[in-house]
Amino acid sequence: MTRIIDGKAAASRLRERVKERVGSFVAGGGPVPGLTVVLVGRHPASLAYVGTKTRMAAEVGMNGRLLELPESTTTEQLLGVIATLNEAEDVHGILVQLPLPGHVDESAVLDAIRPDKDVDGFHPLNVGRLFSASGGIPEDLLLPCTPKGCLILLRETLGDLRGRRAVVVGRSNIVGKPVAALLLAADCTVTIAHSRTTDLPSLCRTADILVAAVGRPQMIRGDWVAEGATVIDVGINRVEQPDGASRLVGDVAFDEAAERAGAITPVPGGVGPMTVACLLDNTLIAAGASQGMPA
Ligand code: GUN
Repeated sequence: MTRIIDGKAAASRLRERVKERVGSFVAGGGPVPGLTVVLVGRHPASLAYVGTKTRMAAEVGMNGRLLELPESTTTEQLLGVIATLNEAEDVHGILVQLPLPGHVDESAVLDAIRPDKDVDGFHPLNVGRLFSASGGIPEDLLLPCTPKGCLILLRETLGDLRGRRAVVVGRSNIVGKPVAALLLAADCTVTIAHSRTTDLPSLCRTADILVAAVGRPQMIRGDWVAEGATVIDVGINRVEQPDGASRLVGDVAFDEAAERAGAITPVPGGVGPMTVACLLDNTLIAAGASQGMPA
């Protein structure tokens, strides 16, 4: 029987644990953790995501704030906003929603966020710490949220990951590369595949753990999946239906893959909900570190 990995339930459990820890942190004299999400412009998917992030922050007892800036915001103006947030004592986590408008220098912006407030884990210092971790990932390291969510789901599904063969399809800075670094730190044997990889189906069939993060609807077919493999589908693609309606699908052809996989995440309801829960976890870690305490 294929296990459908319930990311919605796992995320709800994680948020519940964060809520309890926020309660004890504040009761122990800590500040209310503050998360500021910065949205530049009105990218439709981003609008929905940032709303969820600030609402769920409030639900676990944090101060979730949304800072909406016009599409015309320049790099310099955004750097000014970040400098202010870097200094604000009640802001423990800063997240600049991506994608930014084309005229904004994305890496200048991400580099400007103070590493100890970088709840996205995108700052080069945090990326470097992740890639150079040896003997385990430090508990207080701010990890990118989606990869962290993938690892939690994999540990809940498989337990010990040591020695497993992992294939990560996709090499983005947001998902592919950090997920590969986390799997490597968990002692998996990791291959990163991408658009120039030759014979991708055969490579995928070698995987005990297959992570799909390419952003191409249902690209990974059922016969690319080894019998019993664990499949983590990070893709969230909106596709038009013949009747004009649209629905969300992953990067994996779910029905086909589920016939062979031992366990698989659905879309929606798999990795997606974990991303926000991990963001809240990171915000609490950052708030704890600001007080010199583990949260
Ligand atoms: N856009 C899509 N995913 C993410 C994410 O994890 N963080 C930010 N900041 N923007 C995103």
